[in-house]
Amino acid sequence: MTCKSNADLQIIVDEVRSFSEKGAVADYIPALAKVNKTDLSVAIYEKNNLCIYAGDYMRNFTLQSISKVLVLALALQDRGVDYVFDRVGMEPTGDPFNSISKLETSIPSKPLNPMINAGALAVTNMIKGESENERWERILQFVSCLANKPNVTYDVEVANSELETAWLNRALCYFMKQHKVVEGDIEELMITYTKQCAIEMNCFELARIGAVFALNGLDPETGERLIPIHIARICKTFMVTCGMYNASGEFAIKVGIPAKSGVSGGILGVVPEKYGIGIFGPSLDEKGNSMAGIKLLEILAERYNFSIF
Ligand code: DON
Repeated sequence: MTCKSNADLQIIVDEVRSFSEKGAVADYIPALAKVNKTDLSVAIYEKNNLCIYAGDYMRNFTLQSISKVLVLALALQDRGVDYVFDRVGMEPTGDPFNSISKLETSIPSKPLNPMINAGALAVTNMIKGESENERWERILQFVSCLANKPNVTYDVEVANSELETAWLNRALCYFMKQHKVVEGDIEELMITYTKQCAIEMNCFELARIGAVFALNGLDPETGERLIPIHIARICKTFMVTCGMYNASGEFAIKVGIPAKSGVSGGILGVVPEKYGIGIFGPSLDEKGNSMAGIKLLEILAERYNFSIF
């Protein structure tokens, strides 16, 4: 399976690149700041195994919050729907992704959804395994299948950089441990979570993951089921309601597809039954979403009628 450069797509990429100037690269994880702000690449993976790209589509970046939707798919398989949603809610928050405020005011005290940091930490805590290493290996193995990338790795510098500075995420974990939403050793959980966020791939591999969701959990190349259909549906629904954080409403109106962003500047997009989309553009808006990436999706959505609504 190869990906071909596409002139029309490249024209749009060149057109929206200037939007990167207005945003800023995430630097609260220090190692994330070491990127070129105006980088922009995109790959679109069609269900019939054609793939087109524009920009430096082989450039690796870390998944960050995009990993939340993948680990959710694994946790739902490991534990079942009832177990997961006894501990994590299904509602958008309207708050920033790292907010602690609603954890205290929600009764019972559980994170409102699996796409905010608190919810994602709780979901990572649900992955089955006898040890941190076994849980981590299972996450890697699953992501590797979705991306069809045999040796998925993580960026050690980015993971360590987050581990050394993630005081707010630790606070969320300890709060949730007090309320029995998470269990076990919090440092081990933080290690698995920061490694999961630092999983590296390029736009093409991310677009392939999008294609798996677009096909309701089927491998676009072999037709093998990689994610049960009801779980693929749950993941796509969260991507619509909470995937772009507190910009999800505006994104649903302007683009109208399931999508998940990360502070590295990645966006995973899903056009149901049709395409998986992978984007990397590290300059972010104030809500933590890729500025040029969103603009690119707005133009594509309008031109090719992407909206599911
Ligand atoms: O936990 C964090 O803060 C990061 N590892 C991931 C946050 C993230 O990507 C939010 N995205 N917009």
